Amino acid sequence: MPPELDAIDRAVALLQAGELVAFPTETVYGLGADAANPAAVARIFTAKGRPADHPLIVHLPADSYLERWAREIPAVAWELAEAFWPGPLTLILKRAAAVPGAVTGGQDSVGLRVPAHPLALDLLRAYARAGGGLAGMCGVAAPSANRFGRISPTEAAHVRDELGDAVKLILDGGRCPVGIESTILDLTPGSALPPRLLRPGRITCEQIATVIGVLPEIADRQPGDRTPRVSGSLAAHYAPTTPLRLVPPGRLAEVIARLRQAGHRCAVLCYSQLPDQGASPDLRRLPGDPRGYASGLYAALRELDQAATDLILVEEIPATPAWAAVTDRLRRAACGADRGTDLQS
Ligand code: TXA
Ligand code: MG
Repeated sequence: MPPELDAIDRAVALLQAGELVAFPTETVYGLGADAANPAAVARIFTAKGRPADHPLIVHLPADSYLERWAREIPAVAWELAEAFWPGPLTLILKRAAAVPGAVTGGQDSVGLRVPAHPLALDLLRAYARAGGGLAGMCGVAAPSANRFGRISPTEAAHVRDELGDAVKLILDGGRCPVGIESTILDLTPGSALPPRLLRPGRITCEQIATVIGVLPEIADRQPGDRTPRVSGSLAAHYAPTTPLRLVPPGRLAEVIARLRQAGHRCAVLCYSQLPDQGASPDLRRLPGDPRGYASGLYAALRELDQAATDLILVEEIPATPAWAAVTDRLRRAACGADRGTDLQS
Protein backbone atom coordinates (compact mmCIF):
# COMPACT_ATOMS: atom_id res chain seq x y z
CA MET A 1 0.00 0.00 0.00
CA PRO A 2 1.48 3.45 -0.84
CA PRO A 3 2.57 5.21 2.38
CA GLU A 4 0.25 8.21 1.87
CA LEU A 5 -2.77 5.89 1.57
CA ASP A 6 -1.74 4.18 4.74
CA ALA A 7 -1.53 7.55 6.51
CA ILE A 8 -5.02 8.53 5.28
CA ASP A 9 -6.43 5.25 6.60
CA ARG A 10 -4.86 5.89 9.98
CA ALA A 11 -6.13 9.47 9.96
CA VAL A 12 -9.68 8.30 9.21
CA ALA A 13 -9.54 5.75 12.04
CA LEU A 14 -8.30 8.41 14.48
CA LEU A 15 -11.03 10.88 13.48
CA GLN A 16 -13.67 8.19 13.92
CA ALA A 17 -12.27 7.44 17.37
CA GLY A 18 -12.67 11.12 18.35
CA GLU A 19 -8.93 11.87 18.18
CA LEU A 20 -7.09 14.80 16.57
CA VAL A 21 -5.36 14.71 13.18
CA ALA A 22 -3.41 17.59 11.64
CA PHE A 23 -3.65 17.89 7.88
CA PRO A 24 -2.56 20.30 5.15
CA THR A 25 -5.01 22.55 3.40
CA GLU A 26 -4.16 24.91 0.54
CA THR A 27 -4.17 27.79 3.07
CA VAL A 28 -2.53 26.56 6.31
CA TYR A 29 -2.39 23.29 8.26
CA GLY A 30 -5.57 22.45 10.16
CA LEU A 31 -6.04 20.60 13.44
CA GLY A 32 -8.94 18.28 12.65
CA ALA A 33 -11.56 16.43 14.66
CA ASP A 34 -14.99 14.91 13.97
CA ALA A 35 -17.11 18.07 13.87
CA ALA A 36 -20.24 16.20 14.96
CA ASN A 37 -18.53 14.85 18.11
CA PRO A 38 -18.48 17.44 20.94
CA ALA A 39 -15.85 15.48 22.93
CA ALA A 40 -13.52 15.40 19.91
CA VAL A 41 -14.10 19.10 19.28
CA ALA A 42 -13.29 19.83 22.94
CA ARG A 43 -9.86 18.24 22.38
CA ILE A 44 -9.11 20.87 19.72
CA PHE A 45 -9.72 23.70 22.18
CA THR A 46 -7.51 22.04 24.80
CA ALA A 47 -4.67 21.37 22.36
CA LYS A 48 -4.73 24.94 21.03
CA GLY A 49 -5.31 26.67 24.34
CA ARG A 50 -8.21 28.38 22.62
CA PRO A 51 -11.25 29.85 24.43
CA ALA A 52 -14.27 27.56 23.95
CA ASP A 53 -16.53 30.33 22.63
CA HIS A 54 -14.48 30.67 19.43
CA PRO A 55 -16.29 28.93 16.55
CA LEU A 56 -14.47 26.50 14.25
CA ILE A 57 -14.60 26.02 10.50
CA VAL A 58 -16.11 22.71 9.37
CA HIS A 59 -14.41 21.16 6.33
CA LEU A 60 -16.59 19.18 3.92
CA PRO A 61 -15.72 16.75 1.10
CA ALA A 62 -17.99 18.56 -1.41
CA ASP A 63 -20.73 21.20 -1.58
CA SER A 64 -23.31 18.39 -1.76
CA TYR A 65 -22.82 18.03 2.04
CA LEU A 66 -23.81 21.65 2.70
CA GLU A 67 -27.42 20.89 3.65
CA ARG A 68 -26.36 18.56 6.48
CA TRP A 69 -24.68 21.55 8.14
CA ALA A 70 -26.61 24.65 7.08
CA ARG A 71 -30.24 25.71 6.72
CA GLU A 72 -31.95 28.41 4.62
CA ILE A 73 -28.98 28.36 2.23
CA PRO A 74 -29.29 31.41 -0.05
CA ALA A 75 -28.72 31.14 -3.81
CA VAL A 76 -25.53 33.23 -3.54
CA ALA A 77 -24.00 30.53 -1.32
CA TRP A 78 -24.48 27.92 -4.03
CA GLU A 79 -23.09 30.31 -6.63
CA LEU A 80 -20.01 31.04 -4.53
CA ALA A 81 -19.50 27.34 -3.77
CA GLU A 82 -19.73 26.58 -7.47
CA ALA A 83 -17.20 29.30 -8.30
CA PHE A 84 -14.64 28.87 -5.51
CA TRP A 85 -14.90 25.38 -3.97
CA PRO A 86 -12.78 23.44 -3.49
CA GLY A 87 -10.84 26.53 -2.42
CA PRO A 88 -9.89 29.10 0.21
CA LEU A 89 -13.34 30.58 0.90
CA THR A 90 -15.30 29.97 4.12
CA LEU A 91 -19.03 30.68 4.10
CA ILE A 92 -20.85 31.51 7.34
CA LEU A 93 -24.41 30.18 7.10
CA LYS A 94 -27.27 29.53 9.48
CA ARG A 95 -26.56 26.22 11.16
CA ALA A 96 -28.64 23.10 10.69
CA ALA A 97 -30.36 21.67 13.77
CA ALA A 98 -27.95 18.72 14.02
CA VAL A 99 -24.83 20.89 14.34
CA PRO A 100 -23.39 20.73 17.86
CA GLY A 101 -22.94 24.04 19.70
CA ALA A 102 -19.36 22.99 20.54
CA VAL A 103 -18.30 23.68 16.96
CA THR A 104 -20.13 27.00 16.51
CA GLY A 105 -19.13 28.61 19.80
CA GLY A 106 -22.81 28.47 20.74
CA GLN A 107 -23.83 30.68 17.79
CA ASP A 108 -26.73 30.00 15.43
CA SER A 109 -24.33 30.05 12.45
CA VAL A 110 -21.63 27.72 11.18
CA GLY A 111 -18.47 28.27 9.11
CA LEU A 112 -18.11 25.84 6.17
CA ARG A 113 -15.59 25.24 3.43
CA VAL A 114 -14.39 22.60 0.97
CA PRO A 115 -10.57 22.82 0.96
CA ALA A 116 -8.61 22.41 -2.27
CA HIS A 117 -5.48 20.62 -1.02
CA PRO A 118 -5.39 17.10 -2.54
CA LEU A 119 -4.46 15.48 0.80
CA ALA A 120 -7.28 17.32 2.60
CA LEU A 121 -9.75 16.22 -0.06
CA ASP A 122 -8.46 12.63 0.06
CA LEU A 123 -8.90 12.63 3.82
CA LEU A 124 -12.41 14.12 3.74
CA ARG A 125 -13.58 11.76 0.99
CA ALA A 126 -12.09 8.69 2.71
CA TYR A 127 -13.70 9.81 5.96
CA ALA A 128 -17.09 10.09 4.24
CA ARG A 129 -16.68 6.64 2.67
CA ALA A 130 -15.87 5.20 6.10
CA GLY A 131 -19.12 6.55 7.53
CA GLY A 132 -18.19 10.17 8.25
CA GLY A 133 -18.08 10.12 12.05
CA LEU A 134 -20.98 10.59 14.46
CA ALA A 135 -24.38 10.66 12.77
CA GLY A 136 -22.62 10.32 9.39
CA MET A 137 -22.24 14.10 9.16
CA CYS A 138 -18.92 13.88 7.26
CA GLY A 139 -17.55 17.19 8.58
CA VAL A 140 -14.06 17.76 9.98
CA ALA A 141 -13.74 20.78 12.28
CA ALA A 142 -10.31 22.29 11.87
CA PRO A 143 -8.86 25.55 13.08
CA SER A 144 -5.31 26.43 12.12
CA ALA A 145 -2.97 23.97 13.87
CA ASN A 146 -1.17 26.50 16.04
CA ARG A 147 -1.38 27.55 19.68
CA PHE A 148 -4.04 30.25 20.13
CA GLY A 149 -2.94 33.69 18.91
CA ARG A 150 0.28 32.48 17.28
CA ILE A 151 1.35 32.24 13.64
CA SER A 152 -0.54 29.65 11.58
CA PRO A 153 1.56 26.67 10.43
CA THR A 154 2.29 26.31 6.72
CA GLU A 155 4.55 23.22 7.02
CA ALA A 156 4.18 19.94 8.91
CA ALA A 157 7.25 20.76 11.02
CA HIS A 158 5.54 23.95 12.23
CA VAL A 159 2.63 21.87 13.54
CA ARG A 160 5.03 19.60 15.42
CA ASP A 161 6.76 22.64 16.95
CA GLU A 162 3.43 24.17 17.98
CA LEU A 163 1.48 21.19 19.26
CA GLY A 164 3.96 18.35 19.86
CA ASP A 165 2.34 15.25 21.31
CA ALA A 166 -1.12 16.81 21.55
CA VAL A 167 -1.74 15.63 17.98
CA LYS A 168 -1.53 11.90 17.23
CA LEU A 169 -0.91 12.19 13.49
CA ILE A 170 0.25 14.94 11.16
CA LEU A 171 -0.35 14.33 7.46
CA ASP A 172 2.60 15.91 5.68
CA GLY A 173 1.65 17.62 2.43
CA GLY A 174 4.65 19.93 2.21
CA ARG A 175 4.33 23.71 2.16
CA CYS A 176 0.75 25.11 1.94
CA PRO A 177 0.59 27.02 -1.34
CA VAL A 178 -1.74 29.91 -0.36
CA GLY A 179 0.00 30.50 2.96
CA ILE A 180 -2.66 32.60 4.74
CA GLU A 181 -6.07 31.59 6.10
CA SER A 182 -9.23 31.45 3.98
CA THR A 183 -11.41 34.43 3.13
CA ILE A 184 -14.47 34.40 5.43
CA LEU A 185 -17.80 35.69 4.14
CA ASP A 186 -20.90 36.04 6.34
CA LEU A 187 -24.02 34.93 4.46
CA THR A 188 -26.29 34.64 7.51
CA PRO A 189 -28.52 37.55 6.42
CA GLY A 190 -29.60 35.18 3.62
CA SER A 191 -30.17 36.77 0.27
CA ALA A 192 -29.80 40.31 1.65
CA LEU A 193 -26.82 41.87 -0.12
CA PRO A 194 -24.06 42.81 0.26
CA PRO A 195 -22.67 40.02 2.44
CA ARG A 196 -20.04 40.90 5.05
CA LEU A 197 -16.36 40.07 4.70
CA LEU A 198 -15.17 38.86 8.13
CA ARG A 199 -11.60 37.97 7.17
CA PRO A 200 -9.75 38.88 3.95
CA GLY A 201 -7.84 36.10 2.18
CA ARG A 202 -6.65 34.89 -1.22
CA ILE A 203 -10.17 35.12 -2.69
CA THR A 204 -10.61 38.87 -2.95
CA CYS A 205 -13.74 41.02 -2.66
CA GLU A 206 -13.38 41.80 -6.35
CA GLN A 207 -13.45 38.08 -7.21
CA ILE A 208 -16.53 37.59 -5.03
CA ALA A 209 -18.22 40.53 -6.75
CA THR A 210 -17.74 38.93 -10.15
CA VAL A 211 -19.95 36.06 -8.95
CA ILE A 212 -22.60 37.80 -6.85
CA GLY A 213 -22.62 41.16 -8.61
CA VAL A 214 -21.82 43.26 -5.55
CA LEU A 215 -18.74 43.97 -3.43
CA PRO A 216 -18.89 42.53 0.10
CA GLU A 217 -19.04 45.04 2.90
CA ILE A 218 -15.94 45.03 5.12
CA ALA A 219 -16.93 44.05 8.67
CA ASP A 220 -16.22 47.00 10.89
CA ARG A 221 -15.44 46.04 14.46
CA GLN A 222 -15.95 48.73 17.05
CA PRO A 223 -12.92 49.64 19.20
CA GLY A 224 -13.05 47.63 22.41
CA ASP A 225 -15.34 45.03 20.84
CA ARG A 226 -13.82 41.77 22.01
CA THR A 227 -16.59 39.41 20.89
CA PRO A 228 -14.77 36.55 19.20
CA ARG A 229 -17.01 36.01 16.19
CA VAL A 230 -13.83 35.66 14.20
CA SER A 231 -10.90 34.91 16.46
CA GLY A 232 -8.45 36.11 13.83
CA SER A 233 -10.17 39.46 14.02
CA LEU A 234 -8.95 40.20 17.51
CA ALA A 235 -6.47 43.05 17.10
CA ALA A 236 -3.50 40.95 18.28
CA HIS A 237 -3.32 37.67 16.40
CA TYR A 238 -1.01 35.71 14.11
CA ALA A 239 1.84 37.07 16.18
CA PRO A 240 5.51 36.14 16.58
CA THR A 241 7.01 36.51 20.08
CA THR A 242 9.66 38.96 18.91
CA PRO A 243 8.37 42.56 18.72
CA LEU A 244 7.56 43.43 15.12
CA ARG A 245 7.46 46.84 13.51
CA LEU A 246 6.29 48.01 10.09
CA VAL A 247 8.63 50.45 8.36
CA PRO A 248 7.93 52.43 5.16
CA PRO A 249 10.03 51.08 2.25
CA GLY A 250 12.01 54.27 1.78
CA ARG A 251 13.12 54.30 5.43
CA LEU A 252 14.02 50.65 5.94
CA ALA A 253 17.77 50.82 5.20
CA GLU A 254 18.17 53.87 7.41
CA VAL A 255 16.22 52.34 10.34
CA ILE A 256 18.22 49.10 10.14
CA ALA A 257 21.49 51.03 10.15
CA ARG A 258 20.43 53.18 13.10
CA LEU A 259 19.27 50.26 15.25
CA ARG A 260 22.35 48.18 14.48
CA GLN A 261 24.60 51.11 15.31
CA ALA A 262 22.86 51.39 18.65
CA GLY A 263 23.75 47.73 19.32
CA HIS A 264 20.34 46.18 18.65
CA ARG A 265 19.95 42.92 16.74
CA CYS A 266 17.14 43.25 14.26
CA ALA A 267 15.73 40.80 11.76
CA VAL A 268 14.31 42.09 8.48
CA LEU A 269 11.42 41.00 6.28
CA CYS A 270 11.34 42.82 2.96
CA TYR A 271 10.34 42.48 -0.67
CA SER A 272 12.55 45.23 -2.13
CA GLN A 273 16.19 44.72 -2.90
CA LEU A 274 17.87 46.49 0.02
CA PRO A 275 21.24 48.13 -0.54
CA ASP A 276 24.16 46.80 1.54
CA GLN A 277 22.36 44.04 3.44
CA GLY A 278 24.25 41.13 1.84
CA ALA A 279 23.11 37.63 2.77
CA SER A 280 22.31 38.27 6.40
CA PRO A 281 20.91 35.19 8.18
CA ASP A 282 18.31 37.46 9.78
CA LEU A 283 16.94 38.80 6.51
CA ARG A 284 14.16 37.24 4.45
CA ARG A 285 13.11 38.61 1.10
CA LEU A 286 9.64 37.64 -0.13
CA PRO A 287 8.29 38.02 -3.68
CA GLY A 288 6.94 41.46 -4.57
CA ASP A 289 3.49 40.19 -5.62
CA PRO A 290 0.71 39.63 -3.04
CA ARG A 291 0.21 35.92 -3.76
CA GLY A 292 3.89 35.06 -3.67
CA TYR A 293 4.36 37.17 -0.55
CA ALA A 294 1.43 35.57 1.29
CA SER A 295 2.67 32.12 0.37
CA GLY A 296 5.99 32.64 2.16
CA LEU A 297 4.91 35.06 4.91
CA TYR A 298 4.27 32.78 7.90
CA ALA A 299 7.29 30.55 7.33
CA ALA A 300 9.49 33.66 7.08
CA LEU A 301 8.02 35.18 10.26
CA ARG A 302 8.54 31.90 12.09
CA GLU A 303 12.20 31.71 11.02
CA LEU A 304 12.87 35.33 11.91
CA ASP A 305 11.16 34.84 15.27
CA GLN A 306 13.47 31.90 15.98
CA ALA A 307 16.51 34.05 15.18
CA ALA A 308 15.82 35.60 18.61
CA THR A 309 16.62 39.17 17.67
CA ASP A 310 15.40 42.23 19.58
CA LEU A 311 13.03 43.29 16.84
CA ILE A 312 11.63 42.18 13.48
CA LEU A 313 11.44 45.06 11.00
CA VAL A 314 8.91 44.51 8.21
CA GLU A 315 8.94 46.62 5.06
CA GLU A 316 5.45 48.07 4.63
CA ILE A 317 3.57 46.65 1.65
CA PRO A 318 1.51 48.59 -0.90
CA ALA A 319 -1.87 49.91 0.32
CA THR A 320 -3.88 48.47 -2.58
CA PRO A 321 -6.85 46.02 -2.57
CA ALA A 322 -4.68 43.20 -3.95
CA TRP A 323 -2.58 43.36 -0.76
CA ALA A 324 -5.55 43.62 1.68
CA ALA A 325 -5.22 40.12 3.18
CA VAL A 326 -1.48 40.42 3.74
CA THR A 327 -1.89 43.91 5.23
CA ASP A 328 -4.47 42.49 7.64
CA ARG A 329 -2.10 39.74 8.87
CA LEU A 330 0.90 42.07 9.19
CA ARG A 331 -1.08 44.67 11.14
CA ARG A 332 -2.19 42.03 13.65
CA ALA A 333 1.29 40.53 13.91
CA ALA A 334 2.69 43.99 14.66
CA CYS A 335 -0.01 44.65 17.22
CA GLY A 336 0.41 41.29 18.97
CA ALA A 337 4.17 41.48 19.14
CA ASP A 338 4.42 45.07 20.27
CA ARG A 339 4.95 44.75 23.97
CA GLY A 340 6.33 48.13 24.86
CA THR A 341 9.66 47.73 23.15
CA ASP A 342 12.07 50.58 23.78
CA LEU A 343 13.58 50.14 20.34
CA GLN A 344 12.18 53.38 18.99
CA SER A 345 13.65 54.97 15.94
O1 TXA B 1 -7.88 28.68 5.95
C1 TXA B 1 -8.54 28.43 6.94
O2 TXA B 1 -9.67 28.90 7.13
C2 TXA B 1 -7.91 27.48 7.99
C3 TXA B 1 -7.83 26.09 7.39
C4 TXA B 1 -7.33 25.07 8.37
O3 TXA B 1 -9.07 25.75 6.84
N1 TXA B 1 -8.68 27.48 9.18
C5 TXA B 1 -8.70 28.52 10.04
O4 TXA B 1 -9.41 28.24 11.19
O5 TXA B 1 -8.13 29.58 9.83
P1 TXA B 1 -9.35 29.17 12.48
O6 TXA B 1 -10.19 28.49 13.48
O7 TXA B 1 -7.94 29.42 12.84
O8 TXA B 1 -10.09 30.42 12.01
C6 TXA B 1 -11.44 30.27 11.64
C7 TXA B 1 -12.17 31.53 11.82
C8 TXA B 1 -12.19 31.88 13.27
O9 TXA B 1 -11.68 33.18 13.35
C9 TXA B 1 -13.64 31.79 13.63
O10 TXA B 1 -13.98 32.79 14.55
C10 TXA B 1 -14.34 31.98 12.30
O11 TXA B 1 -13.51 31.34 11.39
N2 TXA B 1 -15.65 31.36 12.34
C11 TXA B 1 -15.94 30.07 12.37
N3 TXA B 1 -17.27 29.88 12.50
C12 TXA B 1 -17.82 31.09 12.54
C13 TXA B 1 -19.16 31.59 12.68
N4 TXA B 1 -20.17 30.77 12.82
N5 TXA B 1 -19.36 32.92 12.68
C14 TXA B 1 -18.31 33.76 12.54
N6 TXA B 1 -17.02 33.36 12.42
C15 TXA B 1 -16.78 32.06 12.43
MG1 MG C 1 -6.26 30.38 13.45
